[in-house]
Amino acid sequence: MTTRTPEQREDAIRAALEAGRWAPSVHNTQPWSFSVSGDVVSLRADTDRKLRVEDSSGRELLIGCGAALFNIRTALRCAGFEPIARVLPDPDRPSLVATVGVGTPMEADEHTRLLGGEFERRRTHRAGFTDLPVPERLIEALVGEARSEGARLTPVVVPEAIEVIAALTRAAQGVQAQDRRFSLEVIRWARPPGSGRGDGVPAGGYPREAAPTEPRFAQRDYAWRHEWGSEADQSKSAATGVVALLTTSGDSREDWIAAGQALQRVLLRASAHGVSAAFHTQVLEMRHLREFLKDELCSGESPQMIIRFGITFDDKDAVRRPLSELVD
Ligand SMILES: Cc1cc2nc3c(=O)[nH]c(=O)nc-3n(C[C@H](O)[C@H](O)[C@H](O)COP(=O)(O)O)c2cc1C
Repeated sequence: MTTRTPEQREDAIRAALEAGRWAPSVHNTQPWSFSVSGDVVSLRADTDRKLRVEDSSGRELLIGCGAALFNIRTALRCAGFEPIARVLPDPDRPSLVATVGVGTPMEADEHTRLLGGEFERRRTHRAGFTDLPVPERLIEALVGEARSEGARLTPVVVPEAIEVIAALTRAAQGVQAQDRRFSLEVIRWARPPGSGRGDGVPAGGYPREAAPTEPRFAQRDYAWRHEWGSEADQSKSAATGVVALLTTSGDSREDWIAAGQALQRVLLRASAHGVSAAFHTQVLEMRHLREFLKDELCSGESPQMIIRFGITFDDKDAVRRPLSELVD
């Protein structure tokens, strides 16, 4: 039987925390903190980092925490230990999203190592994609990855349905752009060029000018009246890519965490095959639009993420807070 030294356990915990910090989160708010007690990592939601206007329920916050949880589990496996995860283990401590114990020694399989190689490499895309097609077999595999974490990923193939989703993103973005409360929240989390802060959406994370996709999927306006954004040439990148909806059967806090775990599993798998994802979640922050999407295009399941998958070659900046700021 495989055995492990105490040092290997310590290394595994460190790798897990390091991986957790690279999870995606809305506006790169990184709404989490970690603590370690013996062989158990605790993942807490940092509600000071919740978006009070866009995400008053904390749904997006918990999706981000779910993504961090998936990274922690996967990193422990890659380091040779079975993770023992308990989601929302203590009703008296609602901010305690999960505890993950370092379990028995095991050898990570190839699939787990494939995912574990992408923690830092994966990036959010914020424009059209190249015309290169995303292989259909990969999309099928992504659907399976989401299912393994208790969520459903549905590729949207009917052009009219894609147009409806794009129109909803434009409607939501249009309403939010006119509402000072929404604009201020986006401005608060937009990271100016040259800034030293370790959170927020960096100006190198979106193009200064992007060719619109057809139909046009509205992007968030992180540059807001500034000449910010990367100089990457987007003139040949106007493909919509594959539109997909991530949904869950319920809409509880457990479901949001499951959606986050599923999201990250899907994103890492896509990234391992050179496929990036763009998100358009403004719609899901507007109650009526989310309900409409749920009833009309999600067969009554709760929409958690609106995603486009595609291929892109431009480098994008990524920032994260150091572990010293995240570990209690
Ligand atoms: C719940 C959730 C919602 C998000 N919504 C959007 C969105 O509407 N538009 C967007 O450009 N990125 C969105 N993102 C991506 C984040 O901005 C991104 O993860 C963060 O800035 C960190 O960058 P990275 O993913 O490149 O590491 C979302 C991420 C999460 C987890």
